[in-house]
Amino acid sequence: MRLMALSGALMLGLSPVHSVNAASIYAGQARAAAVCSQCHGIKNPSADAPFPPLAGRDYAYLKSALEQYRDKTRKSDIMNAIAGSLTDNDISNVAAYYAGLKP
Ligand code: HEC
Repeated sequence: MRLMALSGALMLGLSPVHSVNAASIYAGQARAAAVCSQCHGIKNPSADAPFPPLAGRDYAYLKSALEQYRDKTRKSDIMNAIAGSLTDNDISNVAAYYAGLKP
């Protein structure tokens, strides 16, 4: 049930197209604050949390991880459901946001 609510939040939060990088980071931040941070934290989760840290990770890595979750070449019940409703723009935005955070 919680996952369905989260997916719904993702669909409602679909962001418009951005070409400016600062706008992308802002959009990524808004999405992350609303959805991703519930599991991954605003900064990084505590060391004993079951969620991998995202802050300060490589942009290309985050982007490809989300694309793999979306097309299910990387399996995770939780992340497949979440990434399934992300657009290419959403993935770029949120990857830019987390890559720009200090770990
Ligand atoms: C309901 C909890 C939950 C939410 C919400 C969530 N995640 Fe995850 N995330 C996980 C779990 C659990 C994993 C580990 C899955 C695995 O084993 O591959 C993960 C893994 C990841 C990874 C791979 C990290 C790595 O080290 O390879 C990325 C990237 C990621 N999530 C990004 C996001 C983004 C972006 C959002 C918001 C759009 C988000 N997650 C929302 C639980 C969540």
